[in-house]
Amino acid sequence: MEFTKSELESALLGIKGMKDDPKLKSCHLYNALALLHLCLGEGSWVGLYLAKEDELLLGPFQGTPACERIAFGKGVVGTSFQQERTVSIPDVRKIENYICCDASAISEICVPMKVEGKTVAILDIDLPFVHDFSEEETTFEAIADAMSKYL
Ligand code: SME
Repeated sequence: MEFTKSELESALLGIKGMKDDPKLKSCHLYNALALLHLCLGEGSWVGLYLAKEDELLLGPFQGTPACERIAFGKGVVGTSFQQERTVSIPDVRKIENYICCDASAISEICVPMKVEGKTVAILDIDLPFVHDFSEEETTFEAIADAMSKYL
């Protein structure tokens, strides 16, 4: 089922409003992922890929088990990381540079997460239906920015 832009904006407010306590940073990160997953609905996948040496490794997530390692430049995640930009794909069945972790994923958006100006992780979202993310791209970027404070 489709989510609405205002539901997404409410999730953003919830994530931004988490208490500024260094001790709770990872708790906030996990709850932010849970909140986003709840907002995007059943069948969605929401998680992080974290840069570690020369590749991206699976971080905390909500959803089905996923690929653990992604090379820079590979798939939607690796492309977003290498090009340091948001990459959104309305229908992943139409692209070649795609890594399939779960056949039910149909659309995907990847947003770089920066710490002190450096991209250190990718916020990755998969939805089980065709979806044009252009209306919500800036909201997802604001969510990634808010979550990057909890890395
Ligand atoms: N589809 C991604 C791989 C990660 S999963 O979606 C969780 C990609 O093409 O990079």
